Amino acid sequence: MAYPEYRPRRLRKNEKLRGLIQETELSTKHLVYPMFVKEMHEKKVFIPSMPDVFQFSIEGLLKEIEGVVELSIPAILLFGIPAKKDDVGSEAYNEKGIIQEATRRIKKLFGDDILVITDVCMCEYTSHGHCGIIRDGYVDNDETLKLLAEIALSHVKAGADMVAPSDMMDGRIKFIRQMLDINGYHNIPIMSYAAKYASTLYSPFRDVAESAPQFGDRRSYQMDVPNQKEALREIGLDIEEGADIIMVKPAMFFLDIIHLAKKTFNIPLAAYSVSGEYAMIKHTAEKGFIDYKKTVIELTTSIKRAGADIIITYFAKDIAKWLKENSI
Ligand code: PBG
Ligand code: ZN
Repeated sequence: MAYPEYRPRRLRKNEKLRGLIQETELSTKHLVYPMFVKEMHEKKVFIPSMPDVFQFSIEGLLKEIEGVVELSIPAILLFGIPAKKDDVGSEAYNEKGIIQEATRRIKKLFGDDILVITDVCMCEYTSHGHCGIIRDGYVDNDETLKLLAEIALSHVKAGADMVAPSDMMDGRIKFIRQMLDINGYHNIPIMSYAAKYASTLYSPFRDVAESAPQFGDRRSYQMDVPNQKEALREIGLDIEEGADIIMVKPAMFFLDIIHLAKKTFNIPLAAYSVSGEYAMIKHTAEKGFIDYKKTVIELTTSIKRAGADIIITYFAKDIAKWLKENSI
């Protein structure tokens, strides 16, 4: 008789047994909710590719954050859309710019009830839609660094709790760290988009953020999808330069990178489950072809199981709601 010697199924018999040996658990305290604020009169604008993710005016945003705080979500990742763009992205480092203004208002109203993490980049602010200054058709790395540092400083002056540079220029973390330090902001952490791939999954985001490149693409600064070891080099550099939290982005197609980063580096790791991940699930579930809640939980749990400590996700409000009502 060839009976199995060990029977893993013994511990899968019922909910309670499965719970006892559950290795990964979602929690609201690790979630970050991305939000978009636009200089405009309408309170909120619907974006077809991203149902339930809106562009908000400052007033609309403040109202929406009430609900986010209510759900005990600890942090938002804030993106700004200015009324006017130019080739050097002036609005990005304008003290009275949309992000700076929104950050001041949020901090005034909510204080420590919510962490404001600001995205530091130029693509929403440049007329050409690239993440830096263009010289002869190419994004000039070192010219861009100076502006990124200015942007970060202006966010922090407005009250940002953390800055998150997403441009993928070389050396930006060091530049920004120095800028914050010489201005007395030693205690403001930097969450670096350290391994950010040139992914096709960003296109719904570019509808919301109005940040699509007007010529070419981002492959001369964002990482090439087939590469794994290169992610470790990028992350290693950002840690040396002073990053406090590193990020892998996207999440769903890049779980191997998340896993490897967690195994290799001893530093908090964030994963950004991006707009394309959201759109694929949202639209497919709306058509009734997959179960929304189960799919969202399976994806988010997998990101955590792969090694992410922090999860940046457009599903944050739903996940927090399910956790609150104890229905996961
Ligand atoms: C801008 C930026 C992008 C995202 C975050 N910051 C898109 C891009 O590189 O074009 C993508 C987020 C998402 O898709 O949800 N640098
Ligand atoms: Zn950008």
